[in-house]
Amino acid sequence: MISKRLRTIGDLIDNEESVTDVGCDHGFLAVYLRQKGNTAHLICADSKPGPLSQGRKNLDAMGIENVDMVLSDGLREIDEVTDVIVMAGMGYHTVQHIMTDSADKFAKCRKIIIQVNTDSDKMRRWLNEQGYRIIKERILKDYKYYEIIVVRKGRQYLSEEEITFGPALLEEKSEVFRECYRAKRDKLARVVEKLPEEHEDRDGLLRQIAEIEKYAL
Ligand SMILES: C[S@@+](CC[C@H](N)C(=O)[O-])C[C@H]1O[C@@H](n2cnc3c(N)ncnc32)[C@H](O)[C@@H]1O
Repeated sequence: MISKRLRTIGDLIDNEESVTDVGCDHGFLAVYLRQKGNTAHLICADSKPGPLSQGRKNLDAMGIENVDMVLSDGLREIDEVTDVIVMAGMGYHTVQHIMTDSADKFAKCRKIIIQVNTDSDKMRRWLNEQGYRIIKERILKDYKYYEIIVVRKGRQYLSEEEITFGPALLEEKSEVFRECYRAKRDKLARVVEKLPEEHEDRDGLLRQIAEIEKYAL
């Protein structure tokens, strides 16, 4: 059963768009794309043989055909620049490494979909510094909260609060977004409550709470 997180990523991809799923692991994104009618070229890549062969088995078991499976650190072994490149469920440093390593390919890609497990704010700052423009964002709850960032090459000025909360997410301020930041604010407040008045972390935490209340709620 495909997760809500992967479905949300898949729904950002049109049926005629070719896709490279970097760090494909189980291959479920490709399964979902085919099941929803994508007929374009799909490439599943992973740097480890184990996940890649499990992905192949999953695709075979579900009768999914015509998907290229490539053993590759990032895009190193892949020459084609597909319409979409997905990097999901990976760490911020891994995404940074993959994008730096194949900067020329990413510069040519029209839609890069990134979902890092933590540090979406650091991801946005880095992408902004590297000259990537955010064209869409999603936030969802699938047991925990996930942010999905869609970028392409291009300049954009982002304020500090846009880097922290996401420019598109801030503009939309969806119910899930507010719920996420209410929960974060409450968690921080519980930490502050337990800290002694003179604790060195107190001011920083209070600043974070104030920021959340000012921009996200
Ligand atoms: C946690 S899984 C995420 C799977 C899937 N993308 C998802 O979102 O459910 C991360 C996968 O990325 C792969 N990976 C890590 N570093 C990589 C790299 N540099 N290039 C390609 N794949 C990588 C791992 O082997 C692993 O299978």
